Amino acid sequence: MSGTRALPAGYVLSRVGAHADRAPHDARNSPLESPLELRREGEREGRGVRCDLGAFSLRGGVAEARSMPVVKAVGDAVTVVDATAGLLGDAFVLAVAGYQVTALERSLPIYELASDGLERAMRDPRLAELLGGRLRVVFCDAKEWLTACVGTDAAPDAILIDPMFPPKRRASALPRKEMVMLREVVGADLDATELLGVALRCARKRVALKRGDDAIELAKPDWSIEGKTVRFDVWRSQPS
Ligand SMILES: C[S@@+](CC[C@H](N)C(=O)[O-])C[C@H]1O[C@@H](n2cnc3c(N)ncnc32)[C@H](O)[C@@H]1O
Repeated sequence: MSGTRALPAGYVLSRVGAHADRAPHDARNSPLESPLELRREGEREGRGVRCDLGAFSLRGGVAEARSMPVVKAVGDAVTVVDATAGLLGDAFVLAVAGYQVTALERSLPIYELASDGLERAMRDPRLAELLGGRLRVVFCDAKEWLTACVGTDAAPDAILIDPMFPPKRRASALPRKEMVMLREVVGADLDATELLGVALRCARKRVALKRGDDAIELAKPDWSIEGKTVRFDVWRSQPS
């Protein structure tokens, strides 16, 4: 299913410390040794953005994950689709909390960063244990993927949506530098209302939309959960 393939002009995606003159199977060019990084052309290697699941420290492990607002927003569910994967911050917390998570990403560069981050996490014993094989990432447009799931066994219990909104917002789990670059690479997600509509038809139980706490509602929610800088608007789904 379709996603957005282009890397905008002025950006490069490459492995930190990888060298083209090494043999193809040289371990030093492996994902573990050389994380994939997105950076502006001319920016020093190692200063770009990568998907680093270890950075979402979660020292309190499963108990800490389960206390987080995103988990309260998703609620009682087994399967969750994170329809806006980004760099997997929310998807990681959900998987650690025990949900079976499918994270969907339509921007190819962001999908590649996320896949690389997940692959490296799976080779880290602590992260792999926390994740328990419950997280996968798919390159697609969530509107198409969820539309194909409506009314089928593949429909998830809950769907999380965290679209990119215009600049004022400071709601993401991601640090500011990541947010600025993400915005430059993927732009604003102007079809968020349409995605919400498809999600409401697809989810078996509920849909949660993450917003800046000062943001206007996309549609009237059934209830909201307030975090420190974020709000989750929540709807009971209307499966068709
Ligand atoms: C604000 S970021 C999500 C951040 C993420 N929650 C995290 O914690 O890292 C939004 C991401 O959703 C993706 N996205 C937006 N609409 C999408 C759609 N319809 N299908 C798939 N991905 C989408 C964007 O490309 C972007 O990478």
